Amino acid sequence: MTRLVLPSPGNEAFASSLAREIGAEVGGVESRRFPDDETYVRLLCDVAGREVVVVASLRGPDRLFLPLAFLADAARDLGAARVGLVAPYLAYMRQDARFRPGEAVTSRTFARLLGSAFDWLVTVDPHLHRHRGLAELYAVPTRVAHAAPSVAEWIRREVPDAFVLGPDEESAQWTSDVAARAGVPHVVLAKIRGGDRYVSVSAPDLDAVRGRTPVVVDDIVSTARTMIAAVRMLGEKGFADAVCVGVHAVFAERAYEELSAAGAARVVTCDTIPHETNAIGLTRAVGDAVRFLPRDQSGAPAAGDGAH
Ligand code: R5P
Repeated sequence: MTRLVLPSPGNEAFASSLAREIGAEVGGVESRRFPDDETYVRLLCDVAGREVVVVASLRGPDRLFLPLAFLADAARDLGAARVGLVAPYLAYMRQDARFRPGEAVTSRTFARLLGSAFDWLVTVDPHLHRHRGLAELYAVPTRVAHAAPSVAEWIRREVPDAFVLGPDEESAQWTSDVAARAGVPHVVLAKIRGGDRYVSVSAPDLDAVRGRTPVVVDDIVSTARTMIAAVRMLGEKGFADAVCVGVHAVFAERAYEELSAAGAARVVTCDTIPHETNAIGLTRAVGDAVRFLPRDQSGAPAAGDGAH
């Protein structure tokens, strides 16, 4: 039976494109807030015996989690065979350790909560730093789609004289891959974060990339302080205005406006969080990841599904 894709509100475009990619149908969901702020959820399609694929980008997870849990539970209650979650952006990945006594390690708690609601999870480039893989966090099957091939293709097409700049050591895992695929040089900065909104960066010798257009690549743009620090440093060193490419367009408060005002020539993101800067589509990569999920308890991928 074909899969049934259910978009969480705001995820309709990604869900339709994903459904085309995996040959699934799109179903409807009605959801609203009661006057007292509790949530009403109603499935507008028959899910009995179907594999349900809920699509929800998790920017703003505190507000999104309960409606998603209600939706997944209702689908299961109405006879869905399995209920999986495609979360193009997976939240709560950065508090992955107890940095100060008493702190909640929210990456673990959130994984337990999501894993209790869904049978599997597919996401794009989760922020993995101290956790080596999603399997360390999630007990349910997970698959990760990668943005690097699509980001590299975009750079090759739009900025052929680029050099890729990773704003911190953590970003090197993505930026080295992007640069290699795009066939351009690669530089990584050292970053010091003094607080949520205080970031400074220092650069190694940049003589080898002088004359090229800087493309700053990062997985998440949240306050944009990291990208702003990189853009300013490049300006001070006499480079052309930088192109900024983020995978996940979190953009807290006025971060996008502030990044543009800091001198970015262009700000481009992938479509994992709906935003006006989305220019790089990832539904094909996500579709591949969904196709490669185990279809039965043995953990084997479905016959004919390509490896990711
Ligand atoms: C950090 O480890 C991430 O890779 C990003 O560099 C970071 O999340 C960006 O945050 P912000 O936009 O708030 O500087």
